[in-house]
Amino acid sequence: MSAVRVKIEPWFRRTLYLGLFISWVSGVLFFVMNNWITVTGDFGPEKHPWQFNVLLVHGAAAFIMLMLFGSILSNHIPMTWKTKRLRKIGITISSFIVIQAVTAYLLYYLANEDIRVIVSYLHLAMGGSLPLLLWAHIKLGRKR
Ligand code: HEM
Ligand code: HEM
Repeated sequence: MSAVRVKIEPWFRRTLYLGLFISWVSGVLFFVMNNWITVTGDFGPEKHPWQFNVLLVHGAAAFIMLMLFGSILSNHIPMTWKTKRLRKIGITISSFIVIQAVTAYLLYYLANEDIRVIVSYLHLAMGGSLPLLLWAHIKLGRKR
């Protein structure tokens, strides 16, 4: 039996929370380091040596999130859709995750620095609000 149906098995839910927690913290940390933290190296000011590792962790957690989202897409959404409940917030979370994947792709390959900055803020804003949306979704779902 699948771990993801209308209800989601605790181990899957916890893995989802952990994936979101790690990608949230590492994403925000990377943003702070990239914009505001410099250290003095042998040749003058430079990025903090941990900054690249933070992005490595972020990428790994984000890919795990996308794998989990695959199961939500193929099981949870078709099953809950029939109940007509939580559609608006469910669609909002799903769209945000899809936009995260698209903006992440653009962050990898966009060469235009002006557009890249806008995409980066969009990625940060939507990713930043994901925990709140998910929390509201679950809270509303458990009301009944
Ligand atoms: C499914 C969700 C997510 C995916 C697939 C994803 C993927 C990625 C990837 C691949 C990068 C690296 C881009 C690069 O090399 O520059 C990145 C960067 C970043 N992510 Fe995420 N991420 C996700 C969620 C989040 C969340 C929850 C936050 C938290 C607020 C976040 C904040 C950031 C930030 C600030 C950057 C750096 C952007 C920049 O280069 O300026 N991401 N993300
Ligand atoms: C159109 C999209 C979606 C719809 C219609 C939807 C609908 C629902 C409904 C009706 C419930 C309450 C289930 C119950 O206890 O009776 C629920 C719970 C939940 N949903 Fe969604 N959902 C959607 C998308 C998502 C997405 C994208 C995620 C996560 C990435 C998600 C994660 C959860 C979780 C973790 C629960 C709590 C499950 C539990 O208590 O075992 N949902 N959803």
